[in-house]
Amino acid sequence: MPGLLLGDEAPNFEADTTHGRIRFHDFLGDSWGILFSHPRDFTPVCTTELGRAAKLAPEFRKRNVKMIALSIDDVSDHLAWSKDINAYNGDEPTEKLPFPIIADAKRELSIQLGMLDPDERDKEGMPLTARVVFVFGPDKKLKLSILYPATTGRNFDEILRVVDSLQLTAKNKVATPVDWKSGDRVMVIPSMPDDEAKKLFPEGIFTKELPSGKKYLRYTPQP
Ligand code: BEZ
Repeated sequence: MPGLLLGDEAPNFEADTTHGRIRFHDFLGDSWGILFSHPRDFTPVCTTELGRAAKLAPEFRKRNVKMIALSIDDVSDHLAWSKDINAYNGDEPTEKLPFPIIADAKRELSIQLGMLDPDERDKEGMPLTARVVFVFGPDKKLKLSILYPATTGRNFDEILRVVDSLQLTAKNKVATPVDWKSGDRVMVIPSMPDDEAKKLFPEGIFTKELPSGKKYLRYTPQP
């Protein structure tokens, strides 16, 4: 079945984009990467999403994350629509966005990556791309995927939040709890014995008492 699962390597596809032709692995280089698809250019929710993504581009850059968008429209549509996105953001209506948009008019890439939404179709009855987010690590492996239908816009602040968690947990043997934000305390992973955790986290571990008596809810300050 087409699509990508956690741990899969990103395919090294070639594609036309608003920033010229790319080969995906060269585009990523040694950086983290976010590849996000949207259903269609010149549609309302997509315009708000790409506008927000453009505003947050400096935050992704700070985290060494390369951004790239994708839909089944062609490069000339992407460029014309970019003017609308910039105008929506209150910026100069130029064709320049801080990330490229892939043109996948033949849907070859969308099929390969499992991005099509069977419930959303164009006038010809062809499926549109769903709102997919793939985050790749510097090893080019898939670290996170999010899949939304066309009718629900994403929250790009949430995507930054998960990037913070992915980058922290790639370097440290910790996990981040519900609603965690960078700087909050983190959790000791369940497989780590207490004695190892004490050595690894000299700032201390707080263990919450629970009715089961099991000592699995262990917090430590963010390393
Ligand atoms: C939108 O971006 O507004 C949209 C696109 C396709 C279906 C529904 C909404």
